[in-house]
Amino acid sequence: MCGIVGYIGQLDAKEVLLKGLEKLEYRGYDSAGIAVRNADGIHVFKEKGRIADLRQVVDSSVVASTGIGHTRWATHGVPNYVNAHPHQSTSARFTIVHNGVIENYHLLQEEYLPHVEMQSDTDTEVIVQLVEHFSNEGMATEEAFRHTLSLLEGSYAIGLLDTQTDDTIFVAKKNSPLLVGVGAEFNVIASDAMAMLSVTDQFIELHDKEIVIAKADSIQIKKLDGTKVERAPYTAELDLSDIEKGTYPHYMLKEMDEQPAVVRRITQQYEDAAGNVTISEDIATAIKEADRLYIIAAGTSYHAGLIGKQYFEKIAKIPVEVHISSEFGYNMPLLSKNPLFVFISQSGETADSRQVLVKIKEMGYKALTITNVPGSTLSREANYTLPLYAGPEIAVASTKAYVAQITVLAITAYAVAEATDFDLKKELSIAANAIQTVIDHKEEFQALTEQFLATTRNAFFIGRGMDYFVSMEGALKLKEISYIQAEGFAGGELKHGTIALIEDGTPVIALATQKDVALNIRGNVKEVVARGANPCIISMEGMEEAGDAFTIPHVYPLLAPLASVVTVQLISYYAALYRGCDVDKPRNLAKSVTVE
Ligand code: G6P
Repeated sequence: MCGIVGYIGQLDAKEVLLKGLEKLEYRGYDSAGIAVRNADGIHVFKEKGRIADLRQVVDSSVVASTGIGHTRWATHGVPNYVNAHPHQSTSARFTIVHNGVIENYHLLQEEYLPHVEMQSDTDTEVIVQLVEHFSNEGMATEEAFRHTLSLLEGSYAIGLLDTQTDDTIFVAKKNSPLLVGVGAEFNVIASDAMAMLSVTDQFIELHDKEIVIAKADSIQIKKLDGTKVERAPYTAELDLSDIEKGTYPHYMLKEMDEQPAVVRRITQQYEDAAGNVTISEDIATAIKEADRLYIIAAGTSYHAGLIGKQYFEKIAKIPVEVHISSEFGYNMPLLSKNPLFVFISQSGETADSRQVLVKIKEMGYKALTITNVPGSTLSREANYTLPLYAGPEIAVASTKAYVAQITVLAITAYAVAEATDFDLKKELSIAANAIQTVIDHKEEFQALTEQFLATTRNAFFIGRGMDYFVSMEGALKLKEISYIQAEGFAGGELKHGTIALIEDGTPVIALATQKDVALNIRGNVKEVVARGANPCIISMEGMEEAGDAFTIPHVYPLLAPLASVVTVQLISYYAALYRGCDVDKPRNLAKSVTVE
């Protein structure tokens, strides 16, 4: 989703900002812009499309060492030049970049800006016009900024330049991520530490409703009422090489390849002194004390949650409900007496999940966040965090984070179980090897995809039990990156309506990794084949049959998703390649969705 960068120092700000925005590209965006300030004033460059397009319109002769930049994922107003950030006030005195959604922008416009002619359709422009309005009424810039912020309802991360305040970036944050990076004789702002890691690894966290007056040699953090806040920087423990693509054509391929290593790394990270996989005592106690777990998540993380429910119920005998976060907050079910909320989120920033966290905290309940980004909003605001240790995931379509989520969920359920009849550490090691085997056979998936999906307009994924949940994830992956209409179904349910869509040649990818239902799913395949479907069966060793498209090595049945999901990830990846799609940056999608 939208990304912000800012730089104030000695270097050419244009280049630092453009490079920073390139590092934020993975979040998803449809236009981009920068504004730089020098003695001549503020120069704004923006463009619809990619950063590469923006580079074409940036005037290289403009020299400036202060600036702000933005990648925009359209919410209010279509993605075009006019709606792209930065936005300026009518006199062009103030220039702003903003992430988030201002819910009351129409009301504020009516109340304070009835005579101001708006240039764009965005809620953001209202913020910059309000700052100008209050400064015209006599307020100093900082006061006008704070007063404007106090009127905003919704979410914001903001960088603001003023032609009349030398070498300063005014910064603010509420419910949208934003960090301040600290350097020697320069400072930066960024939605994500990754964007500015090439210039500093020292970052200061900002809390909601704080503002920052950033200059090249000082950082002042204040609350909205003006009281000063002191906060020391932390070292961002990110390795720049983790966020480079290296020789891979796509981040998604690199991240799929990392999956066996991710499972092994997690197993090591969650090992105790005796070599057993476990979690910290306080988290285990919180889970054991709960009478029911409520897993809250979105997208791929929701699909991981569906698998997690099986782990908690089958391994630990703890009842679980899994909910889509955007629904839960507004349609809460009757809760159990003593619930524990488990938020699963790769980014830890998903606004839909956060609105639930805010509500359940108000209700006095405790939360555990399972995330790839410790220090993210969902991690900071929950009582407990379990990290995924998957390393930065850059491709919009989540792959290694899903595998990491399932692995951590299995370890968590195992750690709180009173008794278990299998050795999870050993089984995870076998699963990691099975994932490697699938990856080593990528070319087979490339060929399969050509055969099944190169030209189709739709596809179905079917499975039963654990395979059903992986089918849902397979369909999501295929939709996200290849734009083929796809659905994941419980094998037995297809005949109750959806089978009407099966035509000659419709691809049906069936997963058969669960012994107890393997014959049933093969029966379902026969039903669709009888109606012309083109079947692609992914089975598991021990239940394979002649004609199966691929057989994954045998793994512990509950862990089968770790290996089977990789088959559907590869199928989706190659389908997107065949169709010439932008694999890492699919249209309309954002990596971290920070608006509800
Ligand atoms: C976005 C991404 C999905 C992701 C979902 C939840 O929609 O495009 O890939 O699954 O958000 O994200 P989270 O960071 O909370 O796991």
